[in-house]
Amino acid sequence: MSGDLPANLLRQLAAVVGQSHVLTGDAAAGYAVDWTGGFTGQAPAVLRPGGTAEVAAVLGLCADAGVAVVPQGGNTGLVGGGVPLHGEVVLSLARLDRLGPVDLDAGQVSAGAGVSLQQVADADPGLDLGVFIASRHSATVGGAVATNAGGLRVLRYGPMRAQLRGIEAVLSDGTVLSHMSGLVKDNTGYDYPSLLAGSEGTLAAITAARLQLVPRLADPVTVIVGADGPGEVHALARRAVREVGGLLSAEFFTQAGLDLLVEHAGLTLPLRPPAPVYLLLEAAGPGAAEELAELVGDRPAAVGTGAAERARLWACRERHPEAAGFVGVPLKLDVSVPAARWVRLASDVAGVVAEADPGALVIIYGHVADGNLHVNVVPGAGRADGADRANGEGIAGEVGIAGEDGRHEDAVFSFVASLGGSISAEHGIGALKARWLPLVRSDAERALFARLRAAFDPAGILNPHVLPR
Ligand code: MLT
Ligand code: ZN
Repeated sequence: MSGDLPANLLRQLAAVVGQSHVLTGDAAAGYAVDWTGGFTGQAPAVLRPGGTAEVAAVLGLCADAGVAVVPQGGNTGLVGGGVPLHGEVVLSLARLDRLGPVDLDAGQVSAGAGVSLQQVADADPGLDLGVFIASRHSATVGGAVATNAGGLRVLRYGPMRAQLRGIEAVLSDGTVLSHMSGLVKDNTGYDYPSLLAGSEGTLAAITAARLQLVPRLADPVTVIVGADGPGEVHALARRAVREVGGLLSAEFFTQAGLDLLVEHAGLTLPLRPPAPVYLLLEAAGPGAAEELAELVGDRPAAVGTGAAERARLWACRERHPEAAGFVGVPLKLDVSVPAARWVRLASDVAGVVAEADPGALVIIYGHVADGNLHVNVVPGAGRADGADRANGEGIAGEVGIAGEDGRHEDAVFSFVASLGGSISAEHGIGALKARWLPLVRSDAERALFARLRAAFDPAGILNPHVLPR
């Protein structure tokens, strides 16, 4: 579906959300591109409902008219799942920004889909949100649930799905589902809130979530340790998980990424002389500093305790998603493997990409303890797709979203599948990876996905090009 919407439908939609919340033309353009610039589409209209009832009415109208809809939160996604690559209407949930009072008995809060993760984290001085991602100031609750966001503290608190104690969502026929009482124990049927976590806008539009908060930990200690290679990083992280009781994060990055951030983003090196690779560990609670010191031993390390010094160290890891972007528009491949194979993945993936494209730039970083590696690839200079992506051209419309011929994805995803891994650890399948899903999900599994999808969205209007039917 592309092109203009029928005038009558636009009038009906405006009657629901208000004329000023139906954006078209230039006003809609910012909703049609993701922040990497790697996915650019076109929306005949952006609809900004102000509440659940308006979402229901909008979806009902779109379903009746057979108009495809892409739900969008903070638009911080990395796989093109929230932008209208095939001329869909964008359903922005940003105005659903009501944050309820914190339920101190349960340590929970109800948040509208448009509330940012940082606002949830700030809801109570004694509590925190267990999910901690670099885009937390823009990423919203609805999008984070829809993509089952992971991030920097999954080893301690799990991904967004693990924080979920209830959900409110709207089906494509306008039916509102609400299960928000926050019960920890509730065996009364199918756990559809959990199913909506990671459904990438294909089953329902999430309008609110009931979230479990975690105790805010005082005085975390952050350490960056230099290491010779992924093997040493992995062994140290494995020990940290066992020996550091208050461990929150175990993050990996390389000097290659850091060099780009030093050159283009003004970061300072955490260690001199630099090391080939680094492990960032963070822990909090009694004995955290001593346990980290014992673990690190006499390895080169930088330690941060105060907020400013911790922020300086964290920038070395948190800004890695930007590093490859200083060279070109990166393919952001987000993969995971069983723990015992992470070293092989981290050691060999650049070589695997080089076989497909010797000129490609590969920057890796990730969450060691989760078996997760982010592989950012800028196709080799001189290749048509690399140049076009860097110019923001040539990627809209039919699936040319990835590196055109897909050979970088083929190489990385086939390697990951051969290691028994997943082609998406935390960013989702979106538009970027839809065609590679059969590598890691069987015919029977994909047939079940299709049946679930048809049950939730019989009209077939919700994000039809994401997670193929
Ligand atoms: C991260 O771990 O930094 C995020 O998943 C974002 C990214 O990989 O670009
Ligand atoms: Zn990540």
